[in-house]
Order: sequence, then C-alpha cells, then structure tokens
Amino acid sequence: MPLDQTTLLIELEPVVATNLDRHLLLAKEWFPHEYVPWSSGRTFDGVLDGEPWRPDDSDLPDVARTALIVNLLTEDNLPSYHHEIATLFGRDGAWGTWVHRWTAEEGRHGIAIRDYLTVTRGVDPVALERARMTHMESGYTNAHSDEVLHSVAYVAFQELATRISHRNTGKATGDPIAEQLLARVAADENLHMVFYRNLLAAAFDLAPNEAMRAVTDVAAGFQMPGATIEGFGRKALSIALAGIYDLRQHRDEVLAPVLRQWNVWDRTDLGPEGERAREELDAHMTDLETQAARFEEKREARKVREARK
Ligand SMILES: [Fe+2]
Ligand SMILES: [Fe+2]
Repeated sequence: MPLDQTTLLIELEPVVATNLDRHLLLAKEWFPHEYVPWSSGRTFDGVLDGEPWRPDDSDLPDVARTALIVNLLTEDNLPSYHHEIATLFGRDGAWGTWVHRWTAEEGRHGIAIRDYLTVTRGVDPVALERARMTHMESGYTNAHSDEVLHSVAYVAFQELATRISHRNTGKATGDPIAEQLLARVAADENLHMVFYRNLLAAAFDLAPNEAMRAVTDVAAGFQMPGATIEGFGRKALSIALAGIYDLRQHRDEVLAPVLRQWNVWDRTDLGPEGERAREELDAHMTDLETQAARFEEKREARKVREARK
C-alpha cells in the first residue's frame, strides 16, 4: 500500500528532528552587514538628491550583473517558497521548526546580495526594484505542491543548483568582496541541500518505489526556482554561455552526485513501479548528456567565431 502524505510526514518527523539538530550544530552564525563595503556607497538621486546610477559606476562584467540579478530575484521570492513549504510540511513540531529556521537563513541571502549591489552600484537600482516587484507579484508555485516526496526531491536538487550558481557567480564578478559574500551564501545552500538529501534518503528506505517515482518526475521536469523571472530564457542562456550554470553542471554536479548519494542505480528494494521510474530516469540522464555535449560544442564554436572577429 502506498503511504499517504500525512503518514509520510509523520514517519519522516524523527528524521527531520535528527537532521535539524545536525544542521543547527553545523550552521555557522554570520552577519550580512560584515560582507558589504559600506564606505564605497554614495547617496542616489531622487528623494535625497544624490547621484543617479550610471552603468560605469561599477566594473562588474555584464554576465556577472545578469547572474547577480537572477540570483537575487530568486532569493527575493522567499515569501512564496515559505508559503509552499509551510503549507505542505506544516508549522508544528520538527517540520515547523525547520521551515522557520530555513526561512530565516534564506532571508539573509537576499538582504546581503541587495546591500552589496546597492552600495557598490553594481546594477541599476530602479530596474532592479521594478524587476523585483514584477517577479514577486507573479508568485511561485511548487510544481508538486501537495506531494511530500516530490517536494523534498526538488529542494534537494534546487539547493545544490543555487549553491553552484552563487559560487560561480561570485567567481564571475572578478570582485573578491562579492566572491566572499557569495561563497558564504553558497555554504548555507550546501547545508540546506544536505538536510533535504538526508531526508529523501530516509524516504527511500521507507517507500522506495514512491521515492524513485518522485525523483524521476522531479529530475525530468526540473526548472530553476527563478524560471519565472522576466526574460529568464535570455538571462539563463548568457549565464550558461559564461559557464556559471549550464546543462553540464546541472547534470554532472547537481543531479548525478545526489542520485549517487541515494544509491538509485544500485538499489535492490524497488518493485516493478520503481524499476520503471528508474529506467525513465536513466533515459533522462542519457538525454541530458547528449544535450549538454551539444551545448558545449555550440559554445566552443561560438568562442572560436568571436575570437576571429
Ligand atoms: Fe538562498
Ligand atoms: Fe537554501
């Protein structure tokens, strides 16, 4: 008999409690204000009649600006993410403590990145604010908002994806201050990933076929949490061309290592349903390999073309 959603939540509660304790032990307290070079700041035009923003206020490469905007807008949508997980996981017991703790940690990310960008005049603050309004007004809905295992599988991948994206964005800025800040944010995302990954590992032992199905559905339909940002396709392409987050990284550094941790390829506890899901996942990984290789070829060809110009 497949376990219903409530039974899954109850059965997983002790695992949440253990991993919450582990998380609280490992999570390091940090302060966003320490990472921001406040003395570089200047008052803006408008209410206080300072200097308007100009593109040459900052030396950040264009693609780093794009990636910072995407990462920040993604973090900005936290109220929607909180709504999704609070509704599904609940606000009581260990689940609730995790939901609130996670939300508080995520809240730091948007604060720190926005402060950095505003003080250093890294991006147009008016365009950024308008983009934030548009993005948040459209909200975010989890693709499997009433399924516990699908949701846990999604966040395990997504936290790792954001870790890599923050880390590589930091490197792309060419600014050691931004790099340090984004490495700090990425370290938070890594601990979040470990929490959800451990949780789904326990779910695999509890309900292997259902967990396998969830992982396959989520890997096959994966969208970045910022996918609804205006102009996301164009932005994601330039981010991929710069090697900040591309299909190769998505396949080899996000999906593959987490799948290995869950031992999906060598499990012996799957029934026919689980086996079918695993075969689908295998086909998907092969397909991603082809797509990633094709993208890398195109990117290489493009580089050669541009070098000739
Ligand atoms: Fe975050
Ligand atoms: Fe996170």
